[in-house]
Parts: sequence; structure tokens; C-alpha cells
Amino acid sequence: MDAESYQPSEEHQMLREAVRALSDEKIAPRAAEADENEEFSWEVYKDLVASDFHAVHIPEEYGGAGADALAAVIVIEEVARACASSSLIPAVNKLGTVPLLLSASEEIKQHYLPPVARGEAMFSYALSEPEAGSDAASMKTRAVKDGDHYVLNGTKMWITNAGVSEYYTVMAVTDPSAGARGISAFVVEKSDEGVSFGAKEKKLGIKGSPTRQVILENVRIPEWRMVGDPGTGFKTALATLDHTRVTIAAQALGIAQGALDYAIGYVKERKQFGKPIAEFQGLQFMIADMAMKLEAARQLTYAAAAKSEAAMRGATVKDLTFFSSAAKCAASDAAMEITTDAVQLLGGYGYTREYPVERMMRDAKITQIYEGTNQIQRLVMARQLLK
Ligand code: CAA
Ligand code: FAD
Repeated sequence: MDAESYQPSEEHQMLREAVRALSDEKIAPRAAEADENEEFSWEVYKDLVASDFHAVHIPEEYGGAGADALAAVIVIEEVARACASSSLIPAVNKLGTVPLLLSASEEIKQHYLPPVARGEAMFSYALSEPEAGSDAASMKTRAVKDGDHYVLNGTKMWITNAGVSEYYTVMAVTDPSAGARGISAFVVEKSDEGVSFGAKEKKLGIKGSPTRQVILENVRIPEWRMVGDPGTGFKTALATLDHTRVTIAAQALGIAQGALDYAIGYVKERKQFGKPIAEFQGLQFMIADMAMKLEAARQLTYAAAAKSEAAMRGATVKDLTFFSSAAKCAASDAAMEITTDAVQLLGGYGYTREYPVERMMRDAKITQIYEGTNQIQRLVMARQLLK
């Protein structure tokens, strides 16, 4: 795939079929249970690792599959079609490690990426704080230099897969007088003394993916674990999101596709007024609109993935920031509409946990909130257009 083309290749198609087969066989049957029990599924994690779908983006030189951005999108899409929570395994492994790929020393990359590629460790990304969500640069977590170490103190909020991940990319203030230019990025390990986790948040959706605070109390880490130079952490954090908002778009597409597929099957079976409800034009038009919105969002997401891949390979891609925000915003808005319509198509049954569209509608909502709310995506797009 090059920057000019985003058409999936034959390999991409084969990858999609392989992930769909795994998702249908092993992930979909566990999705309702993970949602109901609010538990991370280690069985799904092991299945993803066994098929090498847990972190396909890691380059071959660090023991990974070296798959391109579109391949990562396809994996996340197909896992999310069955279970949105499980799709956060490949998505957040990418989110946690892209800062390293963009900015870290070779020492850090050689140390931390191979265990992730082998499926021995997961990686999370810790930017948000209780009082610094959209305004991420207003974070308070501090990292103070002490000899050849840094000492970290603060609370990171809403961290996906906190507790199950071994490693965390943590953004912290090293120079309080320098604003966004005084923020640096570090790798923190779960086993570092002083690291603890808050209670699991009780959420509307993606219940099979733990969301917890990461609490840092006098966490002393060697200075080689700083990602990039002092003061570059915020830029690295935002540059990362330029690549990973595309993966949240992929998650949204998958959730929407799952809901659309289920609803299409249902309306062909369900009979009212003596015939399948699929024969009512009012519902046919709803289905046409759902598929149209989904395909439009998919094409935008694949275009953004092509730009992400080109940028990762070193090209200057001026509109990556716009495209990744646009893809995330369009796909998540589409997912919310499509899953809501899927519930409508199933009538009262759609409103119950006996059918998966109810879970899909709850799961879709988060895609409009995380990796920057859709208001923030519009702010980012507008800044790009008006600058
Ligand atoms: N790449 C690299 N650098 C960038 C950048 C980009 N895309 N965008 C901005 N920068 C640089 C700027 O050039 C500036 O640097 P200089 O001062 O050296 O010029 C610096 O970063 C600060 O930029 P801004 O002044 O634009 O920053 P801001 O404070 O106005 O905030 C923002 C910008 C877009 C609102 C940003 O804070 C943001 O994206 N907020 C949303 C937070 C977010 O998305 N959080 C996601 C958490 S992860 C998550 O949710 C996980 C999950 O899904 C599973
Ligand atoms: P706020 O910033 O307080 O926003 C509240 C409302 O105000 C929103 O509607 C917002 O759009 C609006 N708003 C704010 N500023 C503006 C503005 N300038 N213009 C217009 N509207 C505005 N973070 C991580 O770092 N790592 C993770 O792994 C992670 N995972 C998450 C998982 C879950 C389940 C959740 C819920 C969140 C996660 N987040 C994570 C945090 C997420 O990125 C933030 O919740 C998000 O960026 C919004 O921040 P906030 O919740 O503080 O909302």
C-alpha cells in the first residue's frame, strides 16, 4: 500500500477472513459474558496471541508481524465486529507503543517492544487525568529528576487495560514553567515500586476492558526510560493520536458492521402483518442508510490508514492530523447512529440483552468520547483547516 492508494490488497483480504474466522469462532461466543461479568477475557487474549493478531503493527525488527496501518485497522475492525472490548487489545497495544516507535531510543524499543510482540506483555497509554481530559496539556503529574533517575507522582485517569498491562507510556510534567513544552513521556512498569491502580470504573459499555486510574507515588525510574528528549512528551502524545485515532475509527466500524449484519439477518426472519419485516420499505430505507453511512466512514478510515502508514514510513503527510480526526469522528458518529437503528430494527427484542445489538449500542458510545471527544476532533479539524 502506498500513500496514493488505500485499496485493501489480496493479503489484507486474507487477513480479514482469518480474523473474522477467529472472531466468529472464539470471540463472539464470549462477548456477552465479558460484558455481563465486566471481566477482561484472558482466553480471548491468548487466542489473539496464538494467531498473532494482538499487536500486528510491531515492526519485524522488534519481533513483530510488521503489518501496515490498514492491516491493523482490519484486525481491529473484525475483532470489534464480534466484541468491542476485545478489540481494545490490539488497539491499545498500538496506542501504548506508537510513542516508542515515533520517539524512543533504540534501547527502549529493543527492551520493550519484543515482549509485546511475543504476547508476554500489553502496553497502555496514560495521558488523561481527573482534571485534564480534553485539555490534556493541563496535566499535573510530575516527574522530578533525581541523579540519573526520575521520580513520578500523580494520578492518571481512565487508563484502558490498566492492571492487565505490564507497561505504560506515561506523560508527566518535567518543567512546570514551560506549559505543553514542559511535558515528557516515560515508560512505567506495573511492577515499579509505587505504582497502584484504582477500582475498575463501572461503565456503560466496553465492560470487558478494564478502565482504572494509574496511581504513581514516588515511582523512581531510570532516566533511560524517558521517551524522546525532555519536553517532547506532549508532541509525542499528540503525534501518536494522529495514528491511533484511525484505530478507534476501525473499532467503531467493526461495532457498526456487527450491528448491521445482525439486524439484516433479523429482519429477514421476523414476521409481522403476515410477512418478513424486511419487506417493509420503511425498514429497507433504514438499512440502506445504515450501510451507506458505514461504507462512507470505512473509505475515510482506510484513506486515513494509508496516510498513517506513509507517515510511519517517514513521508511528510501534511493532512494526517485532519484525516485521522475526521475518520474517528465520522466512524464513531456513524457507529452510534447505526447501532441505535439496529436496536430499532429489532423492536423490543433489540432492547434486551438476549440480542447483541443492545451491547453494541452501549459499546458504540465510547468511540465518540475517547481518544479525544468528537467536539475535540472538530476543534482539531477546524484548526487544521483555518491555520
Ligand atoms: N502532532 C505533533 N505535535 C502537535 C500536534 C500533532 N498532531 N498537534 C499539536 N502539536 C504540538 C503543537 O505544535 C504545540 O507545540 P509547540 O508549542 O512547540 O508549537 C503543542 O503540541 C501544543 O499544541 P496546542 O497548542 O495545539 O495544544 P492544546 O493545549 O491547544 O491542545 C488538543 C490540543 C488538540 C485539544 C489536545 O489537547 C487534544 O487532543 N485533547 C484531547 C485529548 C485526547 O485525545 N486524549 C486521548 C487520551 S487516550 C484515550 O482516550 C485512550 C483510548 O481511546 C483507548
Ligand atoms: P472533558 O474534557 O471534561 O469534556 C466534557 C465535555 O466538554 C465533552 O463533551 C467535551 O467534548 C466538551 N469540551 C471540552 N473542551 C471543549 C472545547 N474546547 N470545545 C468544545 N467542547 C469541549 N485516556 C488515556 O489517557 N488513556 C486511556 O487509555 C483512556 N481510555 C479511556 C477509556 C474510557 C472508557 C474512557 C471513558 C476514557 C478514556 N480515556 C483515556 C480518557 C478520554 O480520552 C477522556 O475521557 C476524553 O479525552 C475526554 O476527557 P474528559 O472525560 O475529562 O471530558
